[in-house]
Amino acid sequence: MSETEKNRVVVRVPGTSANCGSGFDCIGLAATIYNDLDLTLLEDEKLIIESAGEGAELIPNDEKNIVWKSARLVLERAGFGEKFKGAIIRMENHIPISRGLGSSAAAIVAGLFAANEIINRPFSRNDILRFATEIEGHPDNVAPAIFGGFTVSVVDKGRVQTFSFLPKNKLKLVVAVPDFPLSTRTARQVLPKTVPMKDAIFNISRASMLIAALIKGKDNFLESAFDDALHQPYRKNLVPGMSEVFEAAKNAGALGVALSGAGPCLIAFSSEKKHIENEIATEMVQTFKKNDVQADALILNLDTRGAFVVNG
Ligand code: HSE
Repeated sequence: MSETEKNRVVVRVPGTSANCGSGFDCIGLAATIYNDLDLTLLEDEKLIIESAGEGAELIPNDEKNIVWKSARLVLERAGFGEKFKGAIIRMENHIPISRGLGSSAAAIVAGLFAANEIINRPFSRNDILRFATEIEGHPDNVAPAIFGGFTVSVVDKGRVQTFSFLPKNKLKLVVAVPDFPLSTRTARQVLPKTVPMKDAIFNISRASMLIAALIKGKDNFLESAFDDALHQPYRKNLVPGMSEVFEAAKNAGALGVALSGAGPCLIAFSSEKKHIENEIATEMVQTFKKNDVQADALILNLDTRGAFVVNG
């Protein structure tokens, strides 16, 4: 094996949907849509970055590139910062950018995970989670990108604890992807600093119900479990037609529906055995259209493994 081949790895990282409605800033899931990163670490101070696929024209190809910044963090923390000063980064992206499907989390996790592989894994997935949370600022997208499945995360004085699990329910994920981006920053600016006690109780009860119903596989307890009073009501003006699309998805038989992350994607959950995901997708796209929003639909499954090495 040549020196270059030895310092090369290809990793695949899933897209993610944070919040799942009631689990604002703490629950997330990984979905079967992926970004691939082909990373070669170089001893020379040379940086070659090539992106293909979603948002390729928007991705910086210099030191500002988030994949490179993340890889650097791992190298520096492991004491390899002086050995590897450059890289060849090739990305093939399928996760839409700035739509609420965790494209930045996937880039961060890809950089951290790939660099860690090349230097023979000095860090565990939990270490990667800690670094990724440090970069992203919150764990609810990076956690499912690393572990797969549904994740519940708690941050306590900078320490992140994530519980990842696969639900007993067989779910299809229907995502309506509007044709406009929405930055998380903008979507957080519209949130209030404090919330009424009744809204806090509204969410605690539903988020708890969501986890219980998923662990036990009880679809009938999911009915109101995705509903939210802490962020979606304040964000609905940023996504024209959001309430109507929610209604349309539920009328078409969805078990629940939520804003995906900070939006603008909307995600509906449907029972696999009912085979109604195509109808739900059509209703969501058409209802967006009635509100002058062009949207595409993605029909996805839950990703069950998180980031992994494609070759290595
Ligand atoms: N929990 C975050 C939010 C996710 O809703 O603002 C952003 O990606």
